[in-house]
Amino acid sequence: MENEILLKLNKVYEPPTNILDTLFLKKGDYEKLYKESIENPEAFWGNIAENELFWFSKFEKVMEWNHPKYQWFVGGKMNITYNCLDRHIKNGKRNKVAYIYTNEDNQEAKITYGELFESVCRFANGLKSLGVKKGDTVTINMPMMIEQIIAVLACARIGAIHSVVFGGFSPQALKIRIQDANSKVVITSSWTKRRGKKIFLKSIVDEAVEDIPKDIKIIVAQREGDFYEYLENEIDFHKLMESQSPVCEPEWMDSEDPLFILYTSGTTGKPKGVLHSCAGYNLQTHITSKYIFNINEDDIFWCTADIGWITGHSYVVYGPLSLGATILIVEGAPDYPDPGRWWKIVDKYRVNVFYTSPTAIRMFMKHGVSWTQKFDLSSLKILGTVGEPINPEAWLWYYENIGRNRCVIVDTWWQTETGGHMISTLPSLPQKPGKAGLPFFGVKAEVVNKKGEILPPNTVGFLIIEKPWVSALRNCWGDEERFKQYWSEIGNFYFAGDLAAKDEDGYIMILGRADDVLSVSGHRIGTAEVESAIVSHKSVAEAAVIGKPHEIKGESIKAFVILKKDIEPSEDLKREIKFQVRKELGSLAVPDEIEFVETLYKTRSGKIMRRVLKARELGQPIGDISTLED
Ligand code: PRX
Repeated sequence: MENEILLKLNKVYEPPTNILDTLFLKKGDYEKLYKESIENPEAFWGNIAENELFWFSKFEKVMEWNHPKYQWFVGGKMNITYNCLDRHIKNGKRNKVAYIYTNEDNQEAKITYGELFESVCRFANGLKSLGVKKGDTVTINMPMMIEQIIAVLACARIGAIHSVVFGGFSPQALKIRIQDANSKVVITSSWTKRRGKKIFLKSIVDEAVEDIPKDIKIIVAQREGDFYEYLENEIDFHKLMESQSPVCEPEWMDSEDPLFILYTSGTTGKPKGVLHSCAGYNLQTHITSKYIFNINEDDIFWCTADIGWITGHSYVVYGPLSLGATILIVEGAPDYPDPGRWWKIVDKYRVNVFYTSPTAIRMFMKHGVSWTQKFDLSSLKILGTVGEPINPEAWLWYYENIGRNRCVIVDTWWQTETGGHMISTLPSLPQKPGKAGLPFFGVKAEVVNKKGEILPPNTVGFLIIEKPWVSALRNCWGDEERFKQYWSEIGNFYFAGDLAAKDEDGYIMILGRADDVLSVSGHRIGTAEVESAIVSHKSVAEAAVIGKPHEIKGESIKAFVILKKDIEPSEDLKREIKFQVRKELGSLAVPDEIEFVETLYKTRSGKIMRRVLKARELGQPIGDISTLED
């Protein structure tokens, strides 16, 4: 039996014949096109950009690179919402459903491309009426609801830079992001429902803006049963739309104009605002939705990510919309009211392409197959995974129990900074459990040592990308030095921060982060951020945070804490510290374990050696400690 499982885990899986006919990229196409994209990137991307997107005025030059800055489609004018809405309507898709929404109470809403276009235009005009203009930043803190998509697209329509903040962040974390982006408008909703309980997002926003100057305007999408009395600086989302025209000419944006900021964690205590620009981002999310998810005209596409993360930006909003797909969005928890919820939804809506995280898959594995077996999952063709390495056992469970041995699994590696998929299994090529796969077009990915020298196959090293790709981040908001670091840590390459190994077929396996960034349930959390939240507790002198392997979440957070003089350690204090982290960052960053210690391992220059703490915790060899203080 064990042997049989081992064989399955090490097997190479050919794509099932039933999906081959439906593929945009046929067997053999990848090798040819990849070669072209690397050898002649300008011709390759110039052609794709012209064929796949609408340009108000065509670009003059495909690419310009003055290390570390780069530009794509220079001189072109476009608007991503034109590609996501107008052109589909012009092509006869006015009545095609763009989004299907459902929630824990099984309520349902649908919006067609025509209706979405009108709503976006109305809300865009509403934003203009409040004085929002091209280049202004707008913070969006909303649940998964159609209004959130309208808000995001309306910003893009008028050239305002959106900064979507995940609804699970604390008021303090939201405040830092509103202030850093200098947003004068915040869009929210009254509440969201998770596990049957209401979470009042509006109150989180109220707390976040409490001591920010009062010229901030708050737009609130009220929900069923709400009757708010608005304050002077508050505006009703739906009323704002009602009074506006359903037509709003798009702001014709330069290819390189900023589209959005998305804050993500790095190795310092401060989150960084990753900045993406319009055209390259549009193209990468569009073309990967086509070639990796292979969304066909009549397909129903469901990406389970929240719009507050990059996966939601790229594959709930822009990519599939640019392709003209029908997209499912679901509010609430995956396993509430019972662990059959997601599979019931797949069955009900006949989902064809499904994209989720290894954490979710592992959670469902734990609940057992009885929850999946009840449902008809035969509509599924392509299953995706993202956010963290997928262990072969989880891969196999996904393949057998969700895919029922007749779907392709695409393991997609990418980051907030990359904008779209970079390395992935291609649906027409063999799948290897636990290995993400091959680099996408234009991506020259290598595994190297610290000097940037390419390592032999099957050797673990740093994952780099040699040259800028179309949707590479263009800057870090207000912090160009942080942007430059990406392109200077290892040679002149882009260093992603991940460890990887490449096999003899060129398939890349991602092994996790090489830096002090954790991946907890696929969410990126900086150890330094958690440490500074812990240290903000009045009794704490110092803290160090590490990630520990976790059966479901991938990693769990453990904190080592030194208390101030004369403070007694206690279980109550542990609870207080956890509460402090929840207050500063949000529940996703709360440590699972806290240990009070007398000292922390440090280098002579005073830097905490988390690597040593982690090795000690896991009972692993401690490695080189020549720089250790004591
Ligand atoms: O460590 C890698 C992991 O997620 C990190 C990027 O996190 P974030 O910017 O939040 O974006 C996540 C969603 C795109 C990467 O540095 N990661 C992402 N995808 C994979 C992955 N690790 C292994 N396999 C993947 N498919």
